[in-house]
Parts: sequence; C-alpha cells; structure tokens
Amino acid sequence: MTAAIVVRDLVKDYGARRAVDGLSFHVEPGEVYGLLGPNGAGKSTTIEILEGHRERSAGDVAVLGVDPAVCASSGRAGASAREFRDRIGIVLQSSRFEGKLTVAETLSLYRSPYRRARPVADSLELVGLEEAAGQRVETLSGGQQRRLDLAVGIAGYPDLLFLDEPTTGFDPAARRGAWDLVRSLCADGTTVLLTSHYLDEVEALAGRVGVILGGKLVAEGTPGELVAASGSTMVRFELPPGVGLGDLPRLDGCVPRVAGDGRVEVATDTPTVTVHALTSWAVGCAVELAALSVAPPSLEDTFLRLVDAEASDG
Ligand SMILES: Nc1ncnc2c1ncn2[C@@H]1O[C@H](COP(=O)(O)OP(=O)(O)O)[C@@H](O)[C@H]1O
Ligand SMILES: [Mg+2]
Repeated sequence: MTAAIVVRDLVKDYGARRAVDGLSFHVEPGEVYGLLGPNGAGKSTTIEILEGHRERSAGDVAVLGVDPAVCASSGRAGASAREFRDRIGIVLQSSRFEGKLTVAETLSLYRSPYRRARPVADSLELVGLEEAAGQRVETLSGGQQRRLDLAVGIAGYPDLLFLDEPTTGFDPAARRGAWDLVRSLCADGTTVLLTSHYLDEVEALAGRVGVILGGKLVAEGTPGELVAASGSTMVRFELPPGVGLGDLPRLDGCVPRVAGDGRVEVATDTPTVTVHALTSWAVGCAVELAALSVAPPSLEDTFLRLVDAEASDG
C-alpha cells in the first residue's frame, strides 16, 4: 500500500529564516501520526504545505499520491485537485468563520463542496455542539469554536484528516470527547496527521510520533519506543531545608537539576546505585528526602530531554 503522506527533505524558508530544515517522514494509511514539538518548531508550516496552503522551498511531498502544491495551483480546472480536496479534512491551528452565521449555517456552508458530505446534525453530535446549533459563531466560547473547527474538518468524511493543535482551549472533558472522536474516526480507517504540544494528547492518540525541533525531526517512533530509547529512570525528591544542589553527593555522572515543580530530578541508567548514594548520604546527614520517587521516564521527560539536548548543541 502506498503511504498516505510522504515527506522527503522538506525545506521551507521565510525570507532568511529557515522554518523547516530537511524534514522527512511518512504516514501509513489508517495511522495516527503525531508531530510533537514546541512553539516555532515548524509543525504548522509543515502541515500547511501538506494541505496545499503553503508553498515549499525545496523537497518532495506526496499526499494521497499527489503533490498538494500542484493541486493548489491547478485551481478549478484540475480533476485531481477536486479529488484531493474531497478526500482531505483540515483543522487549522486557528480558523476564523463568519461571526454572524450560526453554527449550523457554517457547517452547511462548509460541507457543500464535498461530494459525500456528513449531515449537519451528525457533525454537531460528534463534536458535542447540538445545543449551540442555532447560536451565532461570534458568541461561541474558545472551546466551542474549536469544536466547530473540528466539525468542519470532518464535514466531508475525509480519508485523511489534518489536525493542527485540535484541542487548544478545551476543558479536560471536551478534550476527552475530542480524543474519542479521533479514535472513532480512526476505527473507521481515517488517517490522521496531528500536531500538538500536549504530550498526553500525542501519547493517547498517536501510533507513531515524530519529534520536531528547529524544523528537523530529532526522534521518531511509537511513544513507547521513544521512551525506551531515552532509557533513563527518573529519581525525584525535594531538597531538604538548608541543602543546595551542590551539597548532594556525587552521583556517578548523573547531574541533578531542579524541575519545574521545584523538586530535584536525576535521570539515571542505574537507579539502584543512584538511590543508594542519595539515601545513604541523607541518612548520614540525618535529613529526609521528602516526596522521593523513582519512576520510568514519561514521554514528557523524553521530550524535554530532547529539547534540552538540542538547546545545548546550539
Ligand atoms: N508566515 C510566516 N512568515 C514568516 N515566518 C513565519 C511564518 N509562519 C511561521 N513563521 C516562522 O516559522 C517558524 C515555524 O513556525 P510554525 O510552523 O508556526 O511552528 P509551530 O507550528 O511548530 O509552532 C517560526 O519561527 C515562525 O515564527
Ligand atoms: Mg503551529
């Protein structure tokens, strides 16, 4: 089977700024592929090139077997362009719909170009917007607008759905609802290219993840593979009162650092040795290592480590 998306050596320059820098990956039919990266990594640029909304500077791209740039430029004439538009669904990172139209009117407008279009009521139900059907778009909350974006994205039963940060602004319940929707679309065979900076989202939905930093793919695999490749176990604890990082014992090459929550964390490949060194030191000094924990790395640990490594490489 040919891949749903093939990206080879993709480059995008905005003037002197290189936003995508030799990116290669592919997405198999029926797969949910997650592009994970911090703000400015080049995720939206990449996805917009694949949708045919943005021109690339160099490299090869095939989406459902065609070049989206050719489809975009062939305009109304091209049958393959028509076919391409018919088979993809798009949820942009930020979309703006006409504020005076109602939710239902917006959906009927956006479903009309599709040869096979989902009934408005079905779309509303799938994204949980039934109650807001008659409401003007300008009165929707941020989370409701995002759900409308999602409804528009699936208006044409797409074979391939692009989701650029689809759940930004959702409350936790709405996020779970959107995840269920993506899972049910996948169960029906829809291919999904998802971008997110929510690690839990990518971990929950994506079969494979590409980690993108500075327009480059720095790691790729299933969430489990990425975590396993990073290997290290995380040891965490609170610094005892009056103790600084420099007072801790030597940990055989592992460098303790203060994490965002104020706890100290140590990534180690020999957790038994590390914990032994720390606890025997603490017992010797008669101090307690409060909230001491030993845990396998999460995808978030892995991701942050990749970001740190890239930053220190310059
Ligand atoms: N239209 C544009 N013109 C100039 N620079 C842009 C434009 N769009 C994005 N960029 C820059 O390209 C880089 C990648 O942006 P983007 O693809 O939006 O990243 P992400 O979606 O991962 O946050 C950023 O440095 C951003 O400032
Ligand atoms: Mg983006």
